[in-house]
Amino acid sequence: MRDSLRQLLLNRWSKVAVFLVCLIPFAFIAHAVIALLRGLPLPGYVGAEPVAFFQHFTGDWTLRFLLITLAVTPLRKFLNLPELIRFRRMLGLFAFFYVCLHFLTYIGPDQAFAFSGMLKDVAKRPFITVGFAAFVLLIPLAVTSTTAWIRRLGGKNWQALHRLIYLSALCGVVHYYWLVKSDHRLPLLYAAILAVLLLYRLASSLLRPRRTVAATT
Ligand code: HEM
Repeated sequence: MRDSLRQLLLNRWSKVAVFLVCLIPFAFIAHAVIALLRGLPLPGYVGAEPVAFFQHFTGDWTLRFLLITLAVTPLRKFLNLPELIRFRRMLGLFAFFYVCLHFLTYIGPDQAFAFSGMLKDVAKRPFITVGFAAFVLLIPLAVTSTTAWIRRLGGKNWQALHRLIYLSALCGVVHYYWLVKSDHRLPLLYAAILAVLLLYRLASSLLRPRRTVAATT
């Protein structure tokens, strides 16, 4: 059973399959945008406020992809499936893709592409400040996600830099918690998942003998 799962994960089409699955939220967005541009009735899932839908949907998927990316390492250890690592970079890049769309829904409809207004807003509203910080932290990670950059930076530096993803996810959770006005259950659930992942990370780096850089990159 495990062997066939391993074979499946190692199959060259498995990456294509994961890529297509990661595009499903985008398909919902694209479907709604096309309807909007063509003046057609909007799909039911968009609701009465399309801008709010795009903001919330892209924000939700950014956070989910960040947490899924962070869950890859614990899962591959617990399930004894080292092959899962093949998908981590792609999942992280999807988090970045969705945050770019999320940022677009803010800078476009919200700020009319006025960057000076955006900077004022970033300074004024704390939930925007931390959201923006979460976004900025992901930029160097996306840029240096290639194998060439791992070589250029050296495994140790690259790993240290890529730990910023935890900080970004933390800022993302705080951003969500602060923007929600009444029902905090969902942001708290994301916070709890992140706390478990962070504790796992801390415990594994404290308890385990030092790993070789090559093994983890
Ligand atoms: C990693 C970065 C980020 C994450 C994980 C994130 C996540 C989220 C989440 C989960 C929501 C709420 C979704 C819901 O209610 O269902 C949200 C809403 C929102 N985010 Fe972000 N976000 C990020 C970055 C940003 C940035 C850079 C900006 C703008 C500069 C921004 C502006 C907004 C706005 C305006 C809303 C809607 C607020 C409202 O409904 O009043 N976010 N975000």
